[in-house]
Amino acid sequence: MASTEPLRVCVTGAAGQIAYSLLYSIGNGDVFGKSQPITLLLLDIPPMMAVLEGVVMELQDCSLPLLHEVVGTADPNVSFNNVDAAILVGAMPRREGMERKDLLKANAKIFEDQGKALDQYAKKTVKILVVGNPANTNCLIASKCAPSIPKENFSCLTKLDQNRAISQVAMRLGIKTCDVSKVIIWGNHSSTQYPDVQHGFVNLNGQAVPITEAVKDDNWIQGEFLRTVQTRGAAIIKARKLSSAMSAAKAICDHMRVWWFGTAEGEYMSMGVITDGTHYGIPEDIVYSFPLTIGAGHKYTIVDGLEINAFSRQKMDLSAKELVEERDVALAFLKKE
Ligand SMILES: NC(=O)c1ccc[n+]([C@@H]2O[C@H](COP(=O)([O-])OP(=O)(O)OC[C@H]3O[C@@H](n4cnc5c(N)ncnc54)[C@H](O)[C@@H]3O)[C@@H](O)[C@H]2O)c1
Repeated sequence: MASTEPLRVCVTGAAGQIAYSLLYSIGNGDVFGKSQPITLLLLDIPPMMAVLEGVVMELQDCSLPLLHEVVGTADPNVSFNNVDAAILVGAMPRREGMERKDLLKANAKIFEDQGKALDQYAKKTVKILVVGNPANTNCLIASKCAPSIPKENFSCLTKLDQNRAISQVAMRLGIKTCDVSKVIIWGNHSSTQYPDVQHGFVNLNGQAVPITEAVKDDNWIQGEFLRTVQTRGAAIIKARKLSSAMSAAKAICDHMRVWWFGTAEGEYMSMGVITDGTHYGIPEDIVYSFPLTIGAGHKYTIVDGLEINAFSRQKMDLSAKELVEERDVALAFLKKE
């Protein structure tokens, strides 16, 4: 139920390009509901304060009835104060010549600090979505540094990958994206992710038909489709000279809206969540993307019992292995300092 008290929503990386596509939708009620007033708390780093001030002015100029207040700050203690939702977009980007472990190190520090600030200042019910890459491992670090917030309140974004996969199937069959369901993203938001259509359906003239039967081309499913979704981010950077922002912002809205209001009947949501070692043989203590359903009280349930064939097993394990390695590298940096 929407409350008349403003919902306090923090967005980090607020002077960046994803935030620029995202903030209007949140302020317009497209995420938390059309009768839910919003206070936006926008965090970026000190050198970006002038740019952030411009973003704040534009949000004011949008004259959005639901937007109660907008605060721009470089202080995590202000931006996380008493928040109900935190969307962590800001991260250290990979620069030319930067090794993967340097990227993990820089981001481990950022998400350690933000985890600690969330622990201290946010509501214990806060729902946290990590978008900044490497999103899965950043999410794990933030959770470890916020022990007073339940682990189930942390997630990372793989909805963009799920939307990409749904769209590829819809385009292949010449149907609408709303007629494609139960497509799954397993694993890491990286090129080892496994977009899986084995359990998915399409609506053809009112009939639910398995995607595999409708497509009738395993070579495409296991080859071109897989590669296209796994490498879509890189293809967009190559074409645009900038990373996906509009589609990432749309996916963030989808993720938070579904987390708030629940999954539709017969739909699976993909998001990265903290593992406990009891689902599909995936090791505990990583952030791994699963198919979920979400019910009342923002509670998610991992969909269990799906049959996993040998091809899927190998892909799912490969992504888990990468996440275990990322975790071990990132955690070593935390322990050293
Ligand atoms: N998970 C996904 O599906 C997905 C999709 C697209 C992009 N991303 C990731 O999202 C992140 C943001 O992308 P973008 O295109 O908006 O980048 P961007 O460079 O345009 O913006 C990032 C912003 O974050 C800020 N920032 C850096 N460190 C910060 C900190 N410690 N606290 C607060 N703000 C900080 C920067 O100053 C900048 O304004 C990147 O890491 C990108 O790789 C993830």
